[in-house]
Amino acid sequence: MTRIIDGNEIADDIRADVKDSVETLTEEGVQPGLATVLMSEDGASETYVSMKQRACEELGIEGSHIEIDPEEPAETLYDRIDELNDDPSVHGILVQMPVPDHVDKRTVLERIAPEKDVDGFHPENVGRLVAGNARYKPCTPHGVQKILAAEGIETEGKDAVIVGRSDIVGKPMANLLIQKAPGGNATTTVCHSRTDDLAEKTRSADILVAAAGVPEMIDGDMIAEGATVIDVGVNRVDADTEKGYELVGDVDFESAKERASAITPVPGGVGPLTIAMLMYNTVEAASRQSG
Ligand code: GUN
Repeated sequence: MTRIIDGNEIADDIRADVKDSVETLTEEGVQPGLATVLMSEDGASETYVSMKQRACEELGIEGSHIEIDPEEPAETLYDRIDELNDDPSVHGILVQMPVPDHVDKRTVLERIAPEKDVDGFHPENVGRLVAGNARYKPCTPHGVQKILAAEGIETEGKDAVIVGRSDIVGKPMANLLIQKAPGGNATTTVCHSRTDDLAEKTRSADILVAAAGVPEMIDGDMIAEGATVIDVGVNRVDADTEKGYELVGDVDFESAKERASAITPVPGGVGPLTIAMLMYNTVEAASRQSG
């Protein structure tokens, strides 16, 4: 029987631990604070940011949210980041990506104080991750590690294949899976849009992580019998629903579940973990900055 992994259940356990840590810190006079910044009118980005703010509220984290008109000059965003860097009540800063084309993404990532970079995207934090000394593990790949651990899926010695090489998921996921550490020690292949014979690579995976952002591109034929399939994709596709769209992953769930031994659904798989790990990093940030 294929196991359908319940990401909400795993995230609930993590959130409960984070809530305890928030209470302890608050009793010590430090209320963890997370600032989110949105410079976009993209509906999906708006939804993600509001989910992050709602999670803060539920856990007792002080959430603050800044919206910047996407027509504003880039300097407006840079100035707001500087203000947040200087605000001692803000322990974590998250600028929702993507930012408009006239804003230089690298400048944004480098402008956020590395200690407050709870996404783990600042080059200093990327370097530390690669060196095996992460300050903050990026939320989505960290969430994938938590899923594998919660489900008792061993990574050591296994063949892991990642489809997608983004800075947010694919690259940090590969770094975590190759680390000499629990949840690592996997032989890891990173595939992308220029990979020849993708299906041959994906079929070699004991653990397949789909993070390409292409709706349902991985089907059952591309999956080895008994593999673990982690679907990071969240794609809006037109559908005859109230909202006019539905969410689908990068994996064709119906055919994939015939072959996989365990699989994450979309929604309700990786997504809840991303937010839980952001809350975790925010509490880490508050704890370090108060210590
Ligand atoms: N856009 C899509 N995923 C993410 C994320 O994890 N962090 C930020 N800041 N932006 C995103």
